Amino acid sequence: MEIENKEVLLSAEEIEERVEVLAAQITEDYRGKKPLLIGVLKGAVIFLSDLIRHIKIPVEIDFMAVSSYGADTASSGVVRILKDLEQSIQGKDVLIVEDIVDTGLTLNYLRENLISRGPSSLKVVTLLDKPDRRKVVFEPDYCGFMIPDKFVVGYGLDFDENYRQLADLCILTD
Ligand code: IMP
Repeated sequence: MEIENKEVLLSAEEIEERVEVLAAQITEDYRGKKPLLIGVLKGAVIFLSDLIRHIKIPVEIDFMAVSSYGADTASSGVVRILKDLEQSIQGKDVLIVEDIVDTGLTLNYLRENLISRGPSSLKVVTLLDKPDRRKVVFEPDYCGFMIPDKFVVGYGLDFDENYRQLADLCILTD
């Protein structure tokens, strides 16, 4: 897809290289196990599908969808689950796959919610981390790239449901 008014922050090639490194780390860390990768819809879909194709051990996948919190819930960090998992995660090695950690509210909530379901382990991999905007302390276990406080689109991330299909990760410019 071609759009004007964009600046490439991370090219498709840079992302691919980094995704391979993350997949190699995950392969090593989970050797002998069969982790359940939980993709957070919709932004993480492309990252998850690229990531699993480079992971060399068996994995399962499932998806959750969560609502963005409104202004009133922003401080409480309450997130509404729009689509839940299709299975119990009790005793499983769970790896949440997210596109970006921004304020940290979404993942903070998701992590607590999933821990309460009794997994054997729970970690988080995010492609992107915008640490400048954190509202709660949140450290992903695996992170692709730290990025500056800019709104990014492409590689699954959207602005108003647009631009998810861009192969590069871009900053929209005027
Ligand atoms: P958090 O709860 O503030 O950490 O927000 C995480 C969610 O906000 C992500 O899953 C994205 O859906 C969205 N988000 C945050 N920053 C960006 C961005 O720069 N581009 C697109 N979506 C973003």
